[in-house]
Amino acid sequence: MLGVRCLLRSVRFCSSAPFPRHKPSAKLSVRDALGAQNTSGERIKVQGWIRSVRSQKEVLFLHVNDGSSLESLQIVADSSLDSRELTFGSSVEIQGQLVKSPSKRQNVELKAEKIKIIGNCDAKAFPIKYKERHPLEYLRQYPHFRCRTNVLGSILRIRSEATAAIHSFFKDSGFVHIHTPIITSNDSEGAGELFQLEPSGKLKVPEENFFNVPAFLTVSGQLHLEVMSGAFTQVFTFGPTFRAENSQSRRHLAEFYMVEAEISFVNSLQDLMQVIEELFKATAMMVLSNCPEDVELCHKFIAPGQKDRLEHMLKNNFLIISYTEAVEILKQASQNFTFTPEWGVNLQTEHEKYLVKHCGNIPVFIINYPLAIKPFYMRDNEDGPQHTVAAVDLLVPGVGELFGGGLREERYHFLEERLARYLDLRRFGSVPHGGFGMGFERYLQCILGVDNIKDVIPFPRFPHSCLL
Ligand code: 4AD
Ligand code: MG
Repeated sequence: MLGVRCLLRSVRFCSSAPFPRHKPSAKLSVRDALGAQNTSGERIKVQGWIRSVRSQKEVLFLHVNDGSSLESLQIVADSSLDSRELTFGSSVEIQGQLVKSPSKRQNVELKAEKIKIIGNCDAKAFPIKYKERHPLEYLRQYPHFRCRTNVLGSILRIRSEATAAIHSFFKDSGFVHIHTPIITSNDSEGAGELFQLEPSGKLKVPEENFFNVPAFLTVSGQLHLEVMSGAFTQVFTFGPTFRAENSQSRRHLAEFYMVEAEISFVNSLQDLMQVIEELFKATAMMVLSNCPEDVELCHKFIAPGQKDRLEHMLKNNFLIISYTEAVEILKQASQNFTFTPEWGVNLQTEHEKYLVKHCGNIPVFIINYPLAIKPFYMRDNEDGPQHTVAAVDLLVPGVGELFGGGLREERYHFLEERLARYLDLRRFGSVPHGGFGMGFERYLQCILGVDNIKDVIPFPRFPHSCLL
């Protein structure tokens, strides 16, 4: 039946029947309409949500936004087209002529000939209010509506641009993109922060595991990337990562996106740090040049001064200090820390903040951590008397740890009796290699100056909260 209908449609299309007399208006996004070169009365159609209504005696002004740009399109209509349903938040379809605007505020405007209400919106009950600048904390309660505000619109468009920039950086540098699995049977980090996965329905044999082995949501794609770097040399992955960390801090999520890279034939941390620095700087520059208005909004209203702070990060070489030096700096600090700095213990957020400030607010690599506090896969530096591994973290202003990585232990006898498949990689064509992971939301926080990680992800998940 469907096939016959399709055939009829194509026959009609191919027949010599005359075209409708009125050429249908071309549908344009608000962004394309605003950037249109031809403003000599071209008939167009736009669809979007009303951001403002100003009703005068003879003229009606609307601003319509469809998420394609920060700027909305001004609609000018005869007051005869006015209706009580044209309210802030309602969705509309407007047809008319795109003309040059007499006002200096915008280049073009749409002279409406037809306004169709698609979905009305009771502005009184709508939690987002016209002309109000809502605090980010308030907007967090409405993950289903906050994307329609200027601020979240800008952040999420930047997020999309940054995603593309990261993919293009790796592609241009010759990395192969790998889809590492979300369901896994390993805890690569060994920190016990796994979410275990089970079918919601009952299995036929209740004591049986769906996968035969316990399965979890991934905490890192690293081990799978290591497999792939053994064939493709340079690989990366960029996907969701899950951690059951009981933290509601402004830099932790239970579900976050991680950018991970793994590179074979790498012998020194220096080589990894070079890729990390290039990745950070090149993608930040791409974001700045691809969505300047959105970035400016963040830098102006969310984090005044962030533009200069970011420029400072981009124009300076990142610094490098060892973990041992870092602990010395902390011990000599005049500041009283809640956690006393001590060799052999993990750096706390307050320590990371202090170190970044101490380094003049330039991102700083901390290298060579104690073996005892890093995961099993880190390469042994075989040093003494303090035993360290070739690990590297990058600390950045405002966020603290942004990247974590290091050289991997490629020598079989150092890993004996650990993971069988991981060991197999060391038996068959093993090479020195290393890699890193970057928290994508923390990256966005760092370049935009957004204080809370929950505001740079569309739907934040954290302990006691999974809205929508
Ligand atoms: O330092 P982490 O735990 O490193 C790894 O997972 C390595 N296996 C990565 C690798 O070498 N391939 O995590 C990497 C980064 C951190 O530096 C941080 O930016 C981010 O992931 N991150 C989080 N971001 C948001 N919420 C959390 N709960 C995070 N935990 C880590
Ligand atoms: Mg880490």
